[in-house]
Amino acid sequence: MKVVVSIGGSVLAPDLDSPRVSAYADVVETLVDDGCRVAAVVGGGGVARDYIGAARALGANEIELDQLGIDVTRLNARLLIAALGEGVATAPATDYEEAGEILRNDDVCVMGGVAPAQTTDAVSAAVAEYVGADLLVYATSVPGVYSDDPNEVADAEQYPQLSAAELVDVIAGLEMNAGSSAPVDLLAAKIIQRAGTRSIVLDGTKPERVLDAVRYGDHDGTDIVPEAAGDDLTYWAE
Ligand code: UTP
Repeated sequence: MKVVVSIGGSVLAPDLDSPRVSAYADVVETLVDDGCRVAAVVGGGGVARDYIGAARALGANEIELDQLGIDVTRLNARLLIAALGEGVATAPATDYEEAGEILRNDDVCVMGGVAPAQTTDAVSAAVAEYVGADLLVYATSVPGVYSDDPNEVADAEQYPQLSAAELVDVIAGLEMNAGSSAPVDLLAAKIIQRAGTRSIVLDGTKPERVLDAVRYGDHDGTDIVPEAAGDDLTYWAE
C-alpha cells in the first residue's frame, strides 16, 4: 500500500521538540515495517509564518515570500529525515518526479514545498496523484473538516465523511470567509477530486492517530471518499 502523510509544520515541530519529531519518525517506520511505501510531506508551521512576516515587512514580494516558506518546509523535512534511520532518502525531494523515483526505489520520501503560489497541502495531493497513492492522510492541528471555522462559529459541524466534490464545495465556501482557515486548501481539494484519491483529514497532534487511521481506518477525523473509490475499505486490515 502506498501512503502519503501530510504533516503540518505546527503538528511536527510546534516548538522544535525533538521527541515529537521522533514520534512521527516512529510512525513512518512502523508503516514501512507493515509493508507500506511512504511519502511524508512536511509543512512550515509558525516558523514559516514568522519568516514570511518579517520578510514581508522588509519589502519582499509574494514569490520571494513563498520561496522563503519553501525553504522552511524543507528545514522541517530535514528534521524528520534526521529522525529516520536507514531507508530514507537523505535530502528532501524537490519535485514530484524525484519523489516518485525515491518511492520506486523502496525508500521513504520526505519533502516540503516544491514551487511558489501553493502550500504543502497541494504538494501532498499532487504527490499522491503522481505515485498513485492508495491513501492520503492530512495530519493537521484541527480534528477534521467542518461546515464552518469551529474557532469562529459555535455550531460548526464536523463532517465524518465527504465525497471529493463535497470537499471542494465545503472548502470553497470556507475560503470565501475572510480570515477563516480551512484544514486543507482548495487546490489540494481539487487535485484530490481530479485524482480520486482516498483521503483522511485528522487531528495529528498525537502521531499514533495517523498509524491507527492507516492501519485500521480508525480515526475521529473526516474521510474523503471520492466517487470513483467506491465503498471498498477492506485494504485497511491487510
Ligand atoms: P505550508 O504548507 O506549511 O503552509 O507552507 P500552511 O498550510 O500555511 O502551514 P501549516 O504548516 O499547515 O501550518 C508554508 C509556506 O511556504 C510556501 C507558502 O508561502 C506557504 O504559505 N510554499 C509551500 C510554497 O510557496 N509552495 C509550496 O509548494 C509549499
